[in-house]
Amino acid sequence: MQYFVTTEALATQKSDCIVVAIFEQGQLSPSAKTLNEVSNNAISRIIDRGDMSGKAGQTVLLHDVAGIEAPRVLLVGCGKQDKTTENDFNAAITAMAKVIHESGARDATSYLNEVTVTTRNDEWKARQTMITATSALYKYTQTKSNVSPLVSPLDKLGFYTQNNVQALEKAAETGSAIAKGMDLARELSNLPGNICTPRYLANQAVEIGQKFDSVTTTILDEAEMAELGMGSLLSVSRGSREPARLITMNYQGAGDARPVVLVGKGLTFDAGGISLKPAAGMDEMKYDMCGSASVFGTISAIAELNLPINVIGVVPSSENMPDGDANKPGDIVTSMAGKTIEILNTDAEGRLILCDALTYSERFNPEIVIDIATLTGAIIVALGSQATGLMANDQALADDLLKAGNDSYDRTWQLPLWDDYQQQLDSNFADIANVGGKEAGSVTAACFLARFTEKFTWAHLDIAGTAWNSGKNKGATGRPVPLLVQYLLNRIAEKK
Ligand code: BES
Ligand code: MN
Ligand code: ZN
Repeated sequence: MQYFVTTEALATQKSDCIVVAIFEQGQLSPSAKTLNEVSNNAISRIIDRGDMSGKAGQTVLLHDVAGIEAPRVLLVGCGKQDKTTENDFNAAITAMAKVIHESGARDATSYLNEVTVTTRNDEWKARQTMITATSALYKYTQTKSNVSPLVSPLDKLGFYTQNNVQALEKAAETGSAIAKGMDLARELSNLPGNICTPRYLANQAVEIGQKFDSVTTTILDEAEMAELGMGSLLSVSRGSREPARLITMNYQGAGDARPVVLVGKGLTFDAGGISLKPAAGMDEMKYDMCGSASVFGTISAIAELNLPINVIGVVPSSENMPDGDANKPGDIVTSMAGKTIEILNTDAEGRLILCDALTYSERFNPEIVIDIATLTGAIIVALGSQATGLMANDQALADDLLKAGNDSYDRTWQLPLWDDYQQQLDSNFADIANVGGKEAGSVTAACFLARFTEKFTWAHLDIAGTAWNSGKNKGATGRPVPLLVQYLLNRIAEKK
């Protein structure tokens, strides 16, 4: 979606559609008041008739309003005046985007920045508008036939401001890049496992490397991983006929500064292996690569924005299947770090591929390592689909990610990573077991990873609850791309 910022007043605004806020109890935003005055109280009459209650997300589309140059005016309910929440604002933007998309308008100018959204400033609202509108219009079509394109899709959003042009342009640019990164993440995630394989992901990474001069992609095949001693990762891919890949995308925006390394779980289909998952809902395990998709989305967003920072994306990618050579419960493998692992449950495969990717990350001398993984069903029980689970071996890093979550409204919530939990991973036959029993499943999964991250500052994001929606609206969310980009933006701002 393209954007522009305009200082043109409402009555003479030449956009295909102008968008103004109405609040509950018939209260009008400043632009709605102006509109009401020039149109001889057209807005008041609509409210009095009961056609617009101001509830967040309610819309009324008007044509040829007297006194207005734009052919269309969209009234959008934004909740209680001065008490619009972030969720209200998102509901308003979502409704706005959908209604305009289905009208004949191709561009629209939003006057919704007049809405007071908790403590958020105008830049936040412009950025959020770009993200939420793009998300509302995302539609998966790649594997459908007979998709008829819209005659006049909404492809350009304007923001009205009196005096803040440059800041809003910057904010919209950031929002647009984040939104594009989310679309990329969503699209990769929604693809089925028979298309989006480890080799497919590797090709996508190569394409990102070709698209941006600042990104260098390297791909390791199984022989090269064997050379490095990645016995844990390779034990997972042995259970599948699809060969594994280790993908590295190196974004260089800050010379030789130490990088932030993002490690994304790229399990393109998780059947569970010999510890086979139940049939119901197993299709959703195509989403077990959403962590890697968020790394792809984040790298492309920051490359688009030319951010002055170095970021390396590392994606271990494999299937987890019950082929004849698959891991068997009780098997013991040796990780790249030299630690032996007793595989008591082959369905706890995420940690098995991530541990070798984390060890591999040491070679980049990282300042920070963050892994992003659909790691445990237990995190969905604990936090639902609202918050991403966060665990870290460094509280300052955890605090930064909590803050980035609040700033971007792509929120995280921290769980403890105390040593007390580590004993659950004791094994009689190896250095460590790959599962820790039924208590605190998300924490013991992170405890497993923590054994491989002692050499650097590290955080783990468990996105099993936030990366996709189930049910009728089944589909990837593009999270946590906003969180990750925000974290990197905050880092850059702090260092300045
Ligand atoms: N990819 C799954 C986690 C998952 C499950 C994400 C359901 C979203 C929905 C992971 O590989 C897995 O299977 N984890 C097991 C771990 C258990 C065997 C200790 C789980 O959560 O059941
Ligand atoms: Mn699994
Ligand atoms: Zn998995």
